[in-house]
Amino acid sequence: MPPIRATDLSITSFTAHYPEDLSQAEQELMAAARQSREHAYAPYSKFHVGAAVLLENGEIVSGSNQENAAFPSGLCAERVAVFQAGHLYPGVPISAVAISAYSTTVDIREALFPCGACRQVMLEYENLQKKPMRLLIDGPDDVITILESAAALLPFAFNGSFLKG
Ligand code: THU
Repeated sequence: MPPIRATDLSITSFTAHYPEDLSQAEQELMAAARQSREHAYAPYSKFHVGAAVLLENGEIVSGSNQENAAFPSGLCAERVAVFQAGHLYPGVPISAVAISAYSTTVDIREALFPCGACRQVMLEYENLQKKPMRLLIDGPDDVITILESAAALLPFAFNGSFLKG
């Protein structure tokens, strides 16, 4: 049997109240994420997600989930926003990403953490820019969960170095 390797994982997050605990830029970012939910195309899940990316040059680029009758062809809000930011402002670092969701059929009672694929995508850009991006995750009662990096949400991640041997 191979030796057992013990790994300690700890994820640090904190909560803040919208809008009073956030900087002006982060308030605007969360407002953009919430506004973006209205652009979601979510006829199947009825789950309307908005994401907004704050770039180091001050620009905000937003996105929403876009579904498809062939379900796997749809895309989450976070990836729509992050890819659009990469397209519009190549090489400009991302300072923060805000995420917000509502459903027309269920009561969302907790913060909406991004799915695994979106974590992977955010982490790739974070590694590329060599500085962390802050994640602002909306939840009920205007409580926002804040993480200081995308890496915090994806331990043991796959990354491009594996492809180089
Ligand atoms: N969705 C997102 O946009 N972001 C997430 O982080 C989780 C899920 C979308 C995908 C799909 O359109 C709907 O929410 C239900 O999964």
